[in-house]
Amino acid sequence: MKYIDDLEAEDLKGTRVLLRLDLNAPVINGEVTDAYRLERVVETVDYLRSKEAKVIIISHCEGKESKTLVPMWHYLNGYFPVQFCTTFFTPESIDKLLNLEEKGVLLFENLRLNPKEEENDLEFSKKLSAMADIYVNDAFSVSHRNHASIVGIPKFLPHFGGLIMRQEIEHLSRVFKPEHPFVFIIGGAKFETKLPLIKKYLEKADKVFVGGALANDIYKEKGFEVGTSLVSKGNSEIADIAKNPKIIVCSDVTVKNKTGTVEFKAADKVLENECIVDAGPETLVELKSLLQDAKTIVWNGPLGNYEIGFQDKTESLAEIIAEATKNGAESIVGGGDTIASINKLGINHKFSFISTGGGAMLDFLVNETLPGIEALKS
Ligand code: 3PG
Repeated sequence: MKYIDDLEAEDLKGTRVLLRLDLNAPVINGEVTDAYRLERVVETVDYLRSKEAKVIIISHCEGKESKTLVPMWHYLNGYFPVQFCTTFFTPESIDKLLNLEEKGVLLFENLRLNPKEEENDLEFSKKLSAMADIYVNDAFSVSHRNHASIVGIPKFLPHFGGLIMRQEIEHLSRVFKPEHPFVFIIGGAKFETKLPLIKKYLEKADKVFVGGALANDIYKEKGFEVGTSLVSKGNSEIADIAKNPKIIVCSDVTVKNKTGTVEFKAADKVLENECIVDAGPETLVELKSLLQDAKTIVWNGPLGNYEIGFQDKTESLAEIIAEATKNGAESIVGGGDTIASINKLGINHKFSFISTGGGAMLDFLVNETLPGIEALKS
């Protein structure tokens, strides 16, 4: 697989580069509220501009309030001048493409407004390819999707990985041959989707800490009351996982009852009318001692129900991992809510590597590759 910095400067000068980025960032009232992904792409665009390439950016976004990339366009304009094009394959877009100068940057509107993107329509990939001379995929975080702009375009254009792609692959791959003790921490919900990951890291890691709603299935398996907490549909493999001596779950939890009262209690003392919404303080003390000697720590997913405001235990965990990193652990973290907590605390620089990927990070950690990476290799 080749990367853009394998190209000579003369290969990029005046070259139309179709750059697939992941600009899918949260937006509230038209403003980007977490710019982590956007800040990461600046290095790649600056690199291409420094080589006098013509940069044509394509991306998707899945905003809850609107499906437009306009807020991301405004954000990136703070770093370099970016033109915006609302349509594909129209006189407007052709005109903008023809007039794009060296070092110029043109951003197209959300690819997913066209259903052909997610349908992985080959004709759509071909038409996108016709806009450029080469293709660069720097959208690691969406490379787990078999979409037209990810796996289709490399069939039609010379293709390269971008700088983010290189960093993601290099850092995440270190987890496949980790230094021990290795602690793998997984939170959030959806046990079924995270099952392959838990199974794989029960083999590779010394301890696997399962937090968030994922742990409720394990409590249930152990015969604990979980009240009204979120649980999965059930899976025959949970029993083996729950019994595995490497598995750790929260020893105490934060519960909320129907009247809204919140309290801490031992994980086996939850009542029928209570809902587990976060880890408890004892668990954080235990995590601190578990992580203090770790040499490798991987973390994805929050400990609490982020959407209803239970963020503080996730933030405490972020601080503990930052401290362990200072003491010599290699820390690799990722996932939307995980990154949000780190950003809020302003401690991004205290981790060895923060992945831009949520689902893509998890898929890569299970399969050691992604469809978008394979497409760049062929
Ligand atoms: C993400 O936010 O994880 C990526 O942008 C991929 O988005 P998707 O899950 O909507 O494909």
